[in-house]
Parts: sequence; structure tokens; C-alpha cells
Amino acid sequence: MNLFRRKSIADLQAEVQTDQRLKRALGPINLTTLGIGAIIGAGIFVLTGQAAAQYAGPAIVLSFVLAGVACAFAGLCYAEFATLIPISGSAYTYGYATLGEFVAWIIGWDLILEYLFAAGTVAVGWSGYVVSLLYDLNIHIPPELSAAYGTHLIEIPTALASALKMKAGWAAVGPALLDQMKTAGTDPASLGHATAVFNVPAVIIILIVTVLLVIGIKESAAFNNIIVAIKLLVIFAFIAVGVAYVNQANWHPFVPPSAGPGHFGWGGVVRAAGVIFFAYIGFDAVSTAAQEAKNPQRDMPIGILGSLAVCTVIYIVVSLLLTGIVSYTRLDVPAPIAVAIDSLGPSMSRWMGPVIKIGAIAGLSSVILVMLLGQPRIFYTMAKDGLLPPVFSAVHPKFRTPWLAQMLTGAVAMLIAALFPIGLLGELVSIGTLLAFAIVCAGVLVLRFTDPQIHRPFRAPAYWIVAPLGVIFCVFLMIGLPSDTWLRLIIWMAIGLVIYFAYGRHHSKVQQRAAQVRAESRAA
Ligand code: ALA
Repeated sequence: MNLFRRKSIADLQAEVQTDQRLKRALGPINLTTLGIGAIIGAGIFVLTGQAAAQYAGPAIVLSFVLAGVACAFAGLCYAEFATLIPISGSAYTYGYATLGEFVAWIIGWDLILEYLFAAGTVAVGWSGYVVSLLYDLNIHIPPELSAAYGTHLIEIPTALASALKMKAGWAAVGPALLDQMKTAGTDPASLGHATAVFNVPAVIIILIVTVLLVIGIKESAAFNNIIVAIKLLVIFAFIAVGVAYVNQANWHPFVPPSAGPGHFGWGGVVRAAGVIFFAYIGFDAVSTAAQEAKNPQRDMPIGILGSLAVCTVIYIVVSLLLTGIVSYTRLDVPAPIAVAIDSLGPSMSRWMGPVIKIGAIAGLSSVILVMLLGQPRIFYTMAKDGLLPPVFSAVHPKFRTPWLAQMLTGAVAMLIAALFPIGLLGELVSIGTLLAFAIVCAGVLVLRFTDPQIHRPFRAPAYWIVAPLGVIFCVFLMIGLPSDTWLRLIIWMAIGLVIYFAYGRHHSKVQQRAAQVRAESRAA
């Protein structure tokens, strides 16, 4: 048995023609909003401040440029593949066509880390924002039911919250928070304490989104358009208001002098790029909707590259404003944009504060939606190839969605979101995505050599530079991630290998067809 057996491009293109079970309902605007929906979320609303305060200072802007360039290389490679093989399996299918079944399985298994785990991660962030908004409205969700199992929480009243520049409500206890309290002269023992059991809001949002996704792609895209419009409006409002409050002194020095490896200086810019890479994840999710696009050959590059371009510009402008309005040293908080808004004075923060929270909640909702949309479509393709059981490729006769895979994805995402903390999940998502991007860039290069003549509706420009640099950038960012994240990736992959050798290898349609051809030629 040849583990590296490839699926031919011709077979894959024939498959696109014959399998019309999913509904082709998406045009260029919906595809671009799907991309923007998936991209702008916890990265900009949560991670940017910490990355600026701990690693890059105002040069976080350059980190966004750096990570944006890495993603542009990957985006061009995705666009080439998504027009050549417009199948919902995305990187998994591209791997099958270029590097063979074994690598395809590795990418498919790895993509679970990107889509399913990202949905869980962002649902945890969503829960944090919703619980805090409700707290402001005097609706108190029991702390035991609002965070990962075992999280030690402490109650931050509104007055203390504004002194500490953070959200009021229950916060996870950590050394940084205890230090801040000490500086503010507050004794932690005087505040309420609780230990969380289960993150209920995170489960509820995944449940709602899952039901919507089962009902229909058109309905889901329409809902996504609304929440993307809300998040963009809020971001534009921040930009419009914030630009008048920039104090250029906050940008000096733009690249603060190094304070140890990865802390400020150019090393810090690179480290921060690895952290905020999470903010760019999602443009590739557009490619999982290829079989639901009306005209994938024309619209996939628009959706993938258009959403990436819009978000890159937004990230650069927002990070420039953020570090211009307040000193980067004050941004080491989970809600950095709120800190910038608070610094504009009480009248501004009174109305902009809740607006930012609503924007963040809308933003995180759309990320959850698109990630949960992508995962079952990859499962669907893997099951059609025989690498997963057929239940994953069941399409609902009325809704025309991969409903069973969708519900299973939702159930596992709920479990992850309910039980795990956000930090652990976020890095795992980043390393998994970077691996997928690196393999896709390598795949484009390989296919240019193995099938140079094939008609490519979209060609990545200067592929001999773009594809290798894509691989190099992604591996470079992966190396910057901590060793325990690498260990988790290796364990996850080991589990995947066991499943492949126990199930996929024996049920693979490609292997079965090859065995049949061999048997026929022996008989002849
Ligand atoms: N890019 C997505 C976010 O920042 C995953 O939430």
C-alpha cells in the first residue's frame, strides 16, 4: 500500500461537478464577509494589548505588518488552490492532490486544531465579554458557571476595575493581577472568591451557532453579514473618535530598546508577530465554502485575499491608534481597546465603553460562526474519501448542510469551551494553523513542478518566491511558540496517526480503487 498515493486534479475536478449536494448560495460579498467574520476577533480585541506591553511596544504595528506578510504569502497559495480545486476540504484536499494521502490526513487532523479549537477558544473570550457586559447591567452570572473548570476567580468591583484598567466582574486570579491589586492598595482577601466548574455562556453561544449552521448556509451567511457590519462599525467608530486623541510622544521610542530575548527591540517585534498571528487566522476558512460558492473560480481569490487585505489595514490602523492614545506600558490587559477609550475621559468612555463591548461580542460571534462552518465541511470531504466514517458526509435532505458532522463538531467544541482556559487553547490553534499554512505553501510549489501545464484560474505571482517564503515565515513563527505547545501538537498528531492506521487506511477510497486496478491488471 502506497501511503503517499495522490488524488489526481482531474478526479478532484470531476468530483466538484458530480457532487452538487451542498447549496451554491454564496457570491463575492458573502465570501469576503465570511473571511472578515473569521479574522477579526479575539486577536485584536484581546491579544494586541498584551503583545504590545510585553514584547513590541508601539512597534506592534510592525508585528502586524510582519504577520500580515506571512499570511499574504499563504493567502496567495490558498487562492491558487481554491480556484484549481474548489472543494470544501480546503488544505486537506490540496494536500491529497500534491503530497499524497498520508500528508492529507495529517493536515485534515491538524485542521481540527485550527477550526474546532479556535471556535472553542473564541467562545471562551465571548463568554468573558458577555458576562462583563451583563455585570455592567447589574445581571450577575454565577462565577462558578462562567469559566473553565478549576479556574480561581476573584470579584473586581467597578471602582477597583477602573483603577486597575480592566473589566468589572469576576476575573481569573494570576500573579500579575495580585501585583496590580497590591499596587492599588487592595487586599485580595477583602474581595469575593469562587472556583469555576463550567463555562455555561461559552456553551450557549456554540449551541446557538450550531443550530443556525444546521438550518442553512444562506441563513448563516446572512446572520454573519449583520454581525460583521456591527463589528466593522464599532471599529470605525473607534478609529474616528481615537484619531483626534493621539499623542505622538507615545510612539517614541517606536521600537523600545531590548530588555532580553523577545522582550522589545527587533526580537520583540518577531515574538509579538507570533502572538498576534492568531488575529489573522480565518481567511483560509473561506476556502471551505468553495462548494457553496456560486462561482468559486472567480470569487475565491476575492473572498480570501479581499478579507485579508481589509483586515490587515484595519489591524495596522487600530494598533497605531491604540499605542498613540495610551502608552503601550498600560496595555497589558484583556480588553486593551477599553483602556484606550477610558483614557479619553468619562463622558467618552460612558457611551463608547459599552459600544466597544458590543462590537467585541459581535466580532467574536462571527469568528465562532465561520470556524464552526469550516470544520464539518472538512470532515465532509474526508468522509467522502473514506478516511472518516460515512456519518460525517451525511447531508440534510432539506437544509442541504452537513448536519450530523455539524452537530458533532458543535458538541465537541462545547466540551472544549466549557472546560479549558483560553491561553492554552489559543497557542494550540496558532501552531496548528501555521503547520497547515506551511504545508499548503509547499503544496503549491510541488504542484507547479509535478503538473506545470494544468490550467490555474488564479496563479500566485512569483510562486518560486511566494511559496518558499510562505513556508519559511510560517515555520519561523512556529519556532517562536513555547515548547509545551509543540508537545501538545505532537501528542495530537500521534492520536491522529493511530486513527489513520486503525481506520482511514483501510477505508480509503483512493487505496481501494488502486487495489482494484491492480487486481484487474493481474487478472488480465
Ligand atoms: N482571527 C480570529 C480571532 O482573532 C481567530 O479571533
